[in-house]
Amino acid sequence: GDYSGPLRPQVHFSPPVGFMNDPNGLFQASNGTYHLYYQYNPTALVAGNQHWGHATSDDLYTWTNQPIALFPPSGVEGAGVFSGSAVIDTNNTSGFFGNLTEGVDPIVAIYTLNTPEKQTQDIAYSLDGGYTFTEYENNPVLDINSTQFRDPKTIWHEETGKWVMAVTYSQEFAIGIYTSPNLIEWEFASNFSHAGLLGLQYECSNLVPVPVKDSDELIWVMYISINPGAPLGGSVGQYFPGTFNGTHFEAFDAAARIDGFGKDNYASQFFYGTPANESISIGWASNWQYTNLVPTAEEGWRSSMATPRRHYVTNATRIGYVLASEPYQIESVRNSSLLPDGAESASIVNTTVEIDLKNNTSGAVYFALNFTIPDGANVPETAAVTLTMRSSASNETLLAGHYLGGSNAGTTWVDRGKLTGFEHPLFSDKVSHTIVGNAESLSGIFDRSLFEVFVNGGEFSATSTVFPSEMLDTLEVTTTDLPEGADVSAAVWGLRSTWA
Ligand code: FRU
Repeated sequence: GDYSGPLRPQVHFSPPVGFMNDPNGLFQASNGTYHLYYQYNPTALVAGNQHWGHATSDDLYTWTNQPIALFPPSGVEGAGVFSGSAVIDTNNTSGFFGNLTEGVDPIVAIYTLNTPEKQTQDIAYSLDGGYTFTEYENNPVLDINSTQFRDPKTIWHEETGKWVMAVTYSQEFAIGIYTSPNLIEWEFASNFSHAGLLGLQYECSNLVPVPVKDSDELIWVMYISINPGAPLGGSVGQYFPGTFNGTHFEAFDAAARIDGFGKDNYASQFFYGTPANESISIGWASNWQYTNLVPTAEEGWRSSMATPRRHYVTNATRIGYVLASEPYQIESVRNSSLLPDGAESASIVNTTVEIDLKNNTSGAVYFALNFTIPDGANVPETAAVTLTMRSSASNETLLAGHYLGGSNAGTTWVDRGKLTGFEHPLFSDKVSHTIVGNAESLSGIFDRSLFEVFVNGGEFSATSTVFPSEMLDTLEVTTTDLPEGADVSAAVWGLRSTWA
């Protein structure tokens, strides 16, 4: 693949050539290596002919493309390998790994085989730690004669000593929970259904334990993707914190909590095999409404993954449990400060600081803003922080900001509508989200055709694809109408190209 195109993300994963959608089979091997598989059409720039592409990484940013891992079965007309998961079968419960080489992880992939007749759950095993797979000879392992039954995500449930699969009955708005002693024989345990936003279909569910912030406690989270029919249109993820006893999941309350206020973070999957105190996911940074049309096709590829997220559950004011997501160890790809004179941070009080990005050859930046508002300050409605990324060639801009006062206090917004590289009626310009009280911080990653913002260290976030027609080569940070004693401190770093 050629990763030099002006829209090619430099710290995010995108396929070498062809079309990509959902992340699949995410696991961390016992030697620490992360494995990412993905819905992949290697032969066209639109969805279809689904394979499992494969890449590996030691830091979740620097990826090595690997050969395709799963192919549609030959001789089955119109067959595709749809989304699914992978596990490490440490105790050889499946019996596939009698002769495994010492030090090689026993990997089983559990996925949907899609054919025009139906969707079944099938498995394949790998004797070389996840690089090549052999299909199980008695597939499928789960078949309910449905064309809308897919995306098995499997975990090991320690307390009951069983495998647990969450799988979607997509058009019945239900998540089926199945258990198995060996990944081959599956028994129905319960349904979790008609919860939260329905959209028109449920897809890609995850049932996973997530650490509570600053605690050893874990809280179960049922994460469900819906498409189409998201509130902003198309695709979105929602989640439910709750309890799980090995067979039944119960949400703590009836609220539908949405993961992200952007339009481009879908089908997130949580890694198998990470330490118990590390919950990490990757989402697909696109939306089915326009993914087959975006202009990156000119560079021979379509779609990237969002920044890997580290998750924890927090207890937000009035809202209750929130699944927070911060970029996973972004420091590992950070270069030096881009602020004038290389300063580590700048205080920006009712002024603009302009940051030249021309020498930042990756075109990728990370920024972190911290807000200090004195207690009891009278903050005017117009008090705001605005980020403007501009192209000096075309003058087009990507805008984002946060309101600090009045009725919009606590509102973060992103506007991609003043970029000129892509037009589509459903490629919405503006998104925003309001939290209780003012934010304390706003950070974000810009990476050529991706823009992600994180409020309060990831309590809320938005992922947006962005399509400038020329490189954005300056960043302006402006604050206006801050009251006496208020301060906005900014840090801006270049990010190292992981594909160069
Ligand atoms: C979600 C999805 C899944 C399906 C896959 C097919 O984006 O529709 O439900 O398995 O994509 O590529």
